Amino acid sequence: MDMIVVAFEGRDPGADRIAAGLGAVYSRAGLHRFPDGECRVRIEPETVSKRMLVVCSLYDPDPVIVPLLFLAQTLRDYGAERLLLVAPYLAYMRQDCSFNEGEGISARYFAGLISHYFDGLITVDPHLHRIKFLDEIYTIPSRVVHAAPLAADWIRDNVDKPLLIGPDSESKQWVVDLARRAGAPCIVLEKIRRGDRDVEINLTDVERWRRHTPVLFDDIISTGKTMMETVKHLKQAGLAAPVCIGVHGVFSGDAYQELLAAGVEKVVTANSIPHASNAIDLTPLLCEAAKTVFS
Ligand code: R5P
Repeated sequence: MDMIVVAFEGRDPGADRIAAGLGAVYSRAGLHRFPDGECRVRIEPETVSKRMLVVCSLYDPDPVIVPLLFLAQTLRDYGAERLLLVAPYLAYMRQDCSFNEGEGISARYFAGLISHYFDGLITVDPHLHRIKFLDEIYTIPSRVVHAAPLAADWIRDNVDKPLLIGPDSESKQWVVDLARRAGAPCIVLEKIRRGDRDVEINLTDVERWRRHTPVLFDDIISTGKTMMETVKHLKQAGLAAPVCIGVHGVFSGDAYQELLAAGVEKVVTANSIPHASNAIDLTPLLCEAAKTVFS
């Protein structure tokens, strides 16, 4: 057997289609939770090959990280020599520095764990801010896939007279590229974050865009507060109901419902995290990246 794709059920966005795209066998890994909270991983030994691709989206990472590392080690024990992790959503990237004395830098520690167990990483638009490149924290080769070309296609097909809006300086890197691809104007706002659910957005002089459809674009929608606060200001300025696009729809708690209730036209995400808002299919880009990494 040449290449096998393996994934846990529920953490496998597009794994079967990635396998089909690569002409690879797709195998499900079993995960059992014991009453005491410990886990046991089981693989199908006959579907272990030297080169294996493990698909696992790392949203809500803590419950899955131990099973994932156990899966990697189990595959090695059964003969796998090269393990590539496809993590369409990569966790812990926002904890990229010690914000207060005594705090650890989780992005580094998480990268250390993944780098120890895997030989390569493919991910989609990781939150690179103070850490500029994955190589600064991952010691294994990594490949970053960008959702922008697919998001631009979606905007061109679905939005009339779009105005791309990045809610904060971090989003500039994605939104400028996206606007260029979609052939649309763009503006980048200023955000001050005071707490997990407390953000302030500053926007001035947006009234001149009243004939456009605002399209908010961010890499992650988590509590949704960044988007909601922006939507509030746009409405006050008399702009049309915006379309909100997030690459990764984390949607903690009731964030999705709250965002819809804030008066948006539509909420759209990529399928790096399975969700009702998924409208951008990353599978072709992930397949392409896996082919080049494994060639
Ligand atoms: C961080 O700066 C990211 O780019 C997003 O703006 C942030 O994760 C959004 O978080 P929330 O939805 O909780 O406001």
